[in-house]
Amino acid sequence: MSHPIDRPAVWFITGTSRGLGLELASQLLAQGEKVAATTRSSERLLAALGSGVDTSALLPLQVDLRDEAAVTAAVEQAHTRFGSLDVVVNNAGYAFLGAVEEASPTDVRAMLDVQVVGVWNVLRAALSLLRAQRGGHIVNVSSVLGLTAVPGWALYCAGKFALEGLTEALAGEVAEFGIDVTLVEPGYFRTSFLTEDSLALPSGAIDAYPSLREMTQSHLGLQGSQLGDPARGSAQIIARVRDGVTAPLRQLLGSDAHAFAAAKVDLLRDTLDQSRQSAPATDFATVWPGPAQGPRSRTQAAARRPAAGHGSGSWPTGERAGDQAR
Ligand SMILES: NC(=O)c1ccc[n+]([C@@H]2O[C@H](COP(=O)([O-])OP(=O)(O)OC[C@H]3O[C@@H](n4cnc5c(N)ncnc54)[C@H](OP(=O)(O)O)[C@@H]3O)[C@@H](O)[C@H]2O)c1
Repeated sequence: MSHPIDRPAVWFITGTSRGLGLELASQLLAQGEKVAATTRSSERLLAALGSGVDTSALLPLQVDLRDEAAVTAAVEQAHTRFGSLDVVVNNAGYAFLGAVEEASPTDVRAMLDVQVVGVWNVLRAALSLLRAQRGGHIVNVSSVLGLTAVPGWALYCAGKFALEGLTEALAGEVAEFGIDVTLVEPGYFRTSFLTEDSLALPSGAIDAYPSLREMTQSHLGLQGSQLGDPARGSAQIIARVRDGVTAPLRQLLGSDAHAFAAAKVDLLRDTLDQSRQSAPATDFATVWPGPAQGPRSRTQAAARRPAAGHGSGSWPTGERAGDQAR
């Protein structure tokens, strides 16, 4: 669906009392769009928007994103109030810095509740509306740490990698309904993300990881000097949504994000080159006829295009065994 041009668009954004979510809501309201904004505290959201922002087209929604019924009610409330739903932004998220063995089951569930279960609740509630109107745009705010993982960030990366997987699959599923999907991958942005408001730490820190404690201190010390400007980042997200369906799935924000992503791609390319001979060793000799035709993701479509200078150049007549699992 192309972005509405004959009326204000209706945006549903999660996590709006701070950072990118707050900036998105402020810019959209200033541009005359309608904004349903979820937050854990409407009071904090309204205070953060301040008196300079016209909030007549704002619907603040105090919602626990982990509560499916509450999320469904919030999406329906937004649809009823504004008569439509055009753009859904899953933005809420927080950082966690600690070693794998330091994260308790509670820490793990809390992160996945926000980054995965909460997003899934929003998607389940919104998709039936978007499908019925045959159009809309879903924006899932991931991170460059959804593409590449670094020590100390395992739990955060686990959440964002999961978000990337579900989003990539989703994009392939909903394209036929005219629904566009974008995965936003920021680098460091100057929001509250690296403050004590947003950066969670393990309650059971272990002495064996002094370098992670130093890393935590240096990250807290980064506050105010991150490369990314949240106003510019939000403007880029809005521009991408208005551009429509021709854009790629991923939107990297920040030159730091771009450099990290490029390093990951280089590493993957090396791995592919090194395993080109050995990977087929596990194949059955016979060729499997392939799965029934279903929605095809952009990755699958790209995988079938011979990459110049890489691989055998094309798939055999049928698809290889194991393709079903990809
Ligand atoms: N800033 C960065 O360096 C950076 C880099 C890569 C990716 N990101 C991603 O960008 C998104 C926005 O983050 P930000 O940089 O704007 O950080 P932020 O300033 O800390 O804002 C995060 C927002 O997420 C919501 N949130 C935080 N913890 C939550 C929880 N436990 N349950 C529900 N909502 C929660 C908050 O909403 P309420 O308080 O209103 O409920 C808050 O407005 C996140 O998904 C983050 O992972 C940020």
